[in-house]
Amino acid sequence: MISYTKNQLALRNGQDKPEIWVAVNGIIYDVSESRMWKNGKHYEHWAGQDLTDELKDAPHLPDVIKKFQKVGYLES
Ligand code: HEM
Repeated sequence: MISYTKNQLALRNGQDKPEIWVAVNGIIYDVSESRMWKNGKHYEHWAGQDLTDELKDAPHLPDVIKKFQKVGYLES
């Protein structure tokens, strides 16, 4: 899988480019198809970033991200 920088991820925030991406544990997932991430917003959270820590505090299991397509690794 290809790697992307934080800046490249940041552009996939649902506002600047058509793709909507979220990173969890170093993997970038494409949540563009999710109706719950429309325009890059999911409750108080925005796509285009690493949401590993925030996902731990979500009122649902972290597994929800697993059904989405992996698009690459987030460069550390
Ligand atoms: C204020 C914090 C959050 C709230 C209130 C919230 C709420 C919800 C709710 C109600 C659902 C749908 C029901 C369910 O699957 O249990 C959902 C799904 C989901 N959430 Fe969250 N969530 C939060 C934070 C996060 C974070 C930080 C992530 C980071 C990746 C995330 C990723 C997802 C994903 C990928 C889905 C599945 C969407 C789909 O199936 O289309 N959530 N969330």
